[in-house]
Amino acid sequence: MHSFKKTSLVFITLLVNIACQQSSYIKSTKIIAGKDYHSFANTEDVVITHINLNLKVNFDNNTIHGLNAMDLKRKNPNVKHVILDTRDLTIINVRTPDGHGRILPVKWHMGRKDPLLGQELVIEMPKSNKLVVEYVTSPNSTGLQWLKPLQTSGKKHPFLYSQSEAIHARSWIPLQDTPQVRQTYTATVKVDKNLRAVMSAYNNPKLMTRFRSYSFTMPQAIPSYLIALAVGNLKYQSIGPRSGVWAEPVILKQAADEFSETEQMIQAGEKLYGKYDWETYDLLILPSSFPFGGMENPRLSFITPTVIAGDKSLVSLIAHELAHSWSGNLVTNATWRDLWLNEGFTTYFESRITESVKGVEVKNMEGVLSYQDLISELPELHKKDQKLALDLRDQDPDDAFTEIPYTKGKLFLDWLESKFGRKNFDAFVKAYFNYFRFQSITTEQFVEYLDENLVKKYPDVIKLKQAKEWIYADGLPKGAIVPQTQVFVSIDALIEQWLNRKIATEDLAVDSWSTQQWLYFLNGLIGKIDYTRMSELDLAYNLTKSQNSEIAHVWFLLSIKYNYDIAFEVMEGYLIEIGRRKLIVPLYKELAKTEKNKLWGKRVYEQAKAGYHSLAQVTIDKIFIK
Ligand code: BES
Ligand code: ZN
Repeated sequence: MHSFKKTSLVFITLLVNIACQQSSYIKSTKIIAGKDYHSFANTEDVVITHINLNLKVNFDNNTIHGLNAMDLKRKNPNVKHVILDTRDLTIINVRTPDGHGRILPVKWHMGRKDPLLGQELVIEMPKSNKLVVEYVTSPNSTGLQWLKPLQTSGKKHPFLYSQSEAIHARSWIPLQDTPQVRQTYTATVKVDKNLRAVMSAYNNPKLMTRFRSYSFTMPQAIPSYLIALAVGNLKYQSIGPRSGVWAEPVILKQAADEFSETEQMIQAGEKLYGKYDWETYDLLILPSSFPFGGMENPRLSFITPTVIAGDKSLVSLIAHELAHSWSGNLVTNATWRDLWLNEGFTTYFESRITESVKGVEVKNMEGVLSYQDLISELPELHKKDQKLALDLRDQDPDDAFTEIPYTKGKLFLDWLESKFGRKNFDAFVKAYFNYFRFQSITTEQFVEYLDENLVKKYPDVIKLKQAKEWIYADGLPKGAIVPQTQVFVSIDALIEQWLNRKIATEDLAVDSWSTQQWLYFLNGLIGKIDYTRMSELDLAYNLTKSQNSEIAHVWFLLSIKYNYDIAFEVMEGYLIEIGRRKLIVPLYKELAKTEKNKLWGKRVYEQAKAGYHSLAQVTIDKIFIK
């Protein structure tokens, strides 16, 4: 930027900032389908088609120094500016090649600012249709977590990973941060000695680490929320013809064993909905502070280590992230309002892969457990948040990830399957993925496709109005198919008998129980037991020391409810070690219910907080402020 203009621009920017800071960006009375309320980008005028990143990862000050070289496509021939999304980025300069081998500065300024969306980077549209932005990230970038060696499994090397979904890509790359824009990307990442970079792209395990510079190519066009990076002491182990695990050496073998069914899952997916389109499918095992179970970064799902149970009982998570290779990564939600197209289809698809690889009983058990989660969450949600097509204006899209898009979305597809029959419905879904491949689509485009290709094709099966009720009405429609399984019916009976002391604790015959049976059993005790009964169970089955993160989670929840103090010390370790929101947030919420526990919880949180991802911190901060 020319310096004589700088002062006046700064002044204007300041005024705009003051004007925009209070009220949030864009308010209109009617929701416009397909309008992304979570991006500043002027995508109707111009879109990015390719990104070439040059990143230097700096663990000394927890920053990335980056060059983002973009190829642009004009949609409006008169476009004057390109508006990119940023959050907490320091822009150093913006340049463009002049076509004669020289590189010229381009005018730019920081534009409107919004607490939820970050800040516009407004750039004069260059003739060349090419831009290079040089920038530095902030140590507090919401899309990056920087871990000290002690926060990793190996304890010797630092670790960095990104989490871009939903709108955090903008905090480490200036770009059009909307799922409507798809781009291919290439990248070169420089890291320190003994560290290795991996990305949501092809990761060549044979590349040597000694050059400290890694190159990546993602030849398929993807939305910004799927751009991902991790850096750490990572090693690779193959687990199938097109799959492998990336992990710190100390957990590599364990992880490779746990996820040995991955190739079978890919084949199950292909059999259902067509070829896996991304060539390789690897898993990256993150440190235990990763705030999610998994993230479907293309070619390289990011996975929490808390699903490594030793018995492959929690691997539906892999089925889920893999399923996103079709639902989400191939056919993408156009805006976060349409999130259910990603997560609902994926949860349905996940259950089908699980059925194929683990059997129908496991699928049914998991179906019941997630249905229970949905039923218990529903009353806590405002009516407007119970719709599949969400109104997220002025709302953080991270808050949209409730059981609604996932489980209500899945139940909708279960219902359609039951109405049209599996054969016809499978053919429909397969054709849907094929028709919209590499596109981002709205709920309304889905509804139209459904009408044309299922509802009208098989008249008199359902009315489109019924499908629309699923999408646009709150609650669960009548006729929803409630998952069930005989296995759990038997557990209900057992619970009854055990509560009435008709069966002794030691005789529960739990030796043969799967993780899902345990979870159902323990969930079924909520509201029905006391301290004594807890200690009987613990004595017989050592639940306080359970190494299964999900079982331990429910056990701790019960422990808080019944003041089972024996478990608190171990729970403290659990809360400090694990950062996965689904496992820790409900515990903090339960702790906050009584004064005594709240004090204890706060103290533990103070110790644990620094190790948590900022997303987890934000959620838990809210619990203790209330
Ligand atoms: N896409 C999500 C992860 C995500 C959630 C990113 C919220 C940003 C905000 C991922 O596919 C997912 O759904 N993960 C679940 C897995 C589970 C439902 C099997 C998780 O992390 O719990
Ligand atoms: Zn998902």
